[in-house]
Amino acid sequence: MEFPSELRYTIEQLLSAQDVRALTAAAEGISNRYRNESGNGKRLVSSEKDVLAYAAVRMPATFGAVSKALELTLEVFEEEINSILDAGAGTGAASHAAEINTGCDNITCLEREEGMIALGQQLMQARGIGASWIRQDITAGLSDQHADLVISSYCLNELTTAERKKAIITLWEHTDKLLLLVEPGTPEGASQLREARNILIEAGGYVAAPCPSNGECTLPLDDWCHFTARVARSKLHKQLKGGDAPYEDEKFCFLAVSKSGCSGKPRILRHPKIESGKITLRICTEQGITDKVVTRKSPLFKAARKSDSGDSFGEI
Ligand SMILES: C[S@@+](CC[C@H](N)C(=O)[O-])C[C@H]1O[C@@H](n2cnc3c(N)ncnc32)[C@H](O)[C@@H]1O
Repeated sequence: MEFPSELRYTIEQLLSAQDVRALTAAAEGISNRYRNESGNGKRLVSSEKDVLAYAAVRMPATFGAVSKALELTLEVFEEEINSILDAGAGTGAASHAAEINTGCDNITCLEREEGMIALGQQLMQARGIGASWIRQDITAGLSDQHADLVISSYCLNELTTAERKKAIITLWEHTDKLLLLVEPGTPEGASQLREARNILIEAGGYVAAPCPSNGECTLPLDDWCHFTARVARSKLHKQLKGGDAPYEDEKFCFLAVSKSGCSGKPRILRHPKIESGKITLRICTEQGITDKVVTRKSPLFKAARKSDSGDSFGEI
């Protein structure tokens, strides 16, 4: 899904008043901190320049990842969503993705950085959404906020292990229907969500996506379950991050857990391997992970040719 033009325009307007070299340095600083300082509860993006650079270089990608995760989840989760709680909302990427994918604009954003909140509010106004923003540290627990859909995207990996485990339980307790966690598509992101999956199943949740069921994950520990969202790169993004590629592929991991008995579907885990006359699909099924070879003669060949990593593949 395309990053909304109103958001792109507003960010570009705000950045046009800034010095490009200082913003490029801020974008580099953010990348370095995410690479080297995540996972210990530190503040990683706080100054005004950092916040603007975050919105320019990361927000389109996190929006793309949450949109794709929601698209895949809403294929199997069909309940109506009437309220959204976005924990560690940053500049609101996940909330925009959720509003567009569910049609629900009853949104509460929880965030601890004032700068993120200020820009997040401005971007919500740009799209005409009256979300409520609350300055809150999610590791200190939530008050009485509850929502049908609770989302946390690219936030849990910033917390310490103990904080993360506690936050997962807290978010689950404040979820009325569906909890969606989205994290970077790295081995660490995947292992954190694997741990979250165990915690949430133990707490009585039903995995809606990406897994086909609550069954034990049979992916080898040295592999990691992740998906890709293709994100168009703006002129500004190219200026701040360098390179000419027209798009970037954002790798992400996600986990959607429901309160009701919703169950998932078999899902393709890798880009299909296409060879002459046959396509091999690596599929996660209730019985475990299997390589399904679909030959040209099979009635599934057309569907296999159109399929991609992340898609559910019903008939196996
Ligand atoms: C990488 S950004 C992601 C923002 C947004 N969810 C997105 O997907 O673009 C992580 C956000 O989580 C916020 N955050 C980190 N720890 C937090 C905490 N303990 N309580 C509230 N917000 C937190 C950070 O301030 C930052 O805005």
